[in-house]
Amino acid sequence: MGNFKSLLVVGAGQMGAGIAQVASQAGIDVKLNDLKEEYVNKGLGGIHTSLERAVNKLKIDKSYAESVLSRIRPSLTLEDAADVDLVIEAAVENLATKANIFQQLDQICSLDTVFASNTSSIPITQLAGCTNRPDKFIGMHFMNPVPVMKLVEVIDGLMTSNETREQIIQLSREMGKDPITVNDFPGFVSNRVLMPMINEAVYSVYEGVATVDAVDTIMKLGANHPMGPLALADLIGLDTCLAIMEVLYDGFGDSKYRPCPLLRKFVQAGRLGRKTGMGFYDY
Ligand code: 3HC
Repeated sequence: MGNFKSLLVVGAGQMGAGIAQVASQAGIDVKLNDLKEEYVNKGLGGIHTSLERAVNKLKIDKSYAESVLSRIRPSLTLEDAADVDLVIEAAVENLATKANIFQQLDQICSLDTVFASNTSSIPITQLAGCTNRPDKFIGMHFMNPVPVMKLVEVIDGLMTSNETREQIIQLSREMGKDPITVNDFPGFVSNRVLMPMINEAVYSVYEGVATVDAVDTIMKLGANHPMGPLALADLIGLDTCLAIMEVLYDGFGDSKYRPCPLLRKFVQAGRLGRKTGMGFYDY
């Protein structure tokens, strides 16, 4: 058993649920927290489906799947973080929301508790600055779908200690992931490279260069991507894609990161991708 025995995950959306699953698979006791019971139940339902899929494919047996599920308990209050070793925050991609969560957690948790954010682009140093433990604060950026994707992008804040980084690298490995450490810059590496590609794919549709299907097929067949950029945008969530583009645009002040108006329009329409049943494709 590694450094962390207990974990509270804030946010039971697709990322939070996936993180809870892989943490439980690593033998850690997990609390899955969200604002409403229905959100937590939806997250637990997603974990159940993901484990069931693995059981059906004979990758794990039923009793193991049950033990993974039984280690994850629902939580509806951040006070539940009082006795955990680690908190991983996977709330919505909004600075004010995340800052508020970490300010509360900082009061609730002992000073030994490590804080990680699964933010896809908000500066880790800025989030760490909302707490009195910037040395115990780090970015732990998982990829969607979490149970499948091997990467954890580990982001060092300006004040992150070597000890915290080493603990999180070890934890990522225990979760079956390959951690890669990067420094704290807008979008880190993964989204600095990935999101402008997705944004350009949206521009290609917006400017009438090609259809959604054509853009995706070109990238699948032409660049060997497992799914096209627009299908991937739907998987990630168009609101998250837009939020990341805004962070890149604000953070670098460079017009090359301007979000495509069509992406903005879809988000305004509540057409957010798979999670709302409609994005560039219908689900
Ligand atoms: N949960 C658990 N397992 C899942 C899953 C899920 N949600 N989705 C797929 N799987 C498993 C399947 O069971 C299958 O397992 P097997 O190989 O053992 O049979 C395997 O993954 C492949 O799934 P499928 O056969 O159903 O479908 P595909 O072969 O098309 O793969 C995919 C699906 C893994 C999503 C693949 O299309 C892919 O890799 N897409 C790209 C994903 C990507 O780029 N993610 C990063 C997004 S960026 C990000 O997350 C950062 C953020 O900040 C925005």
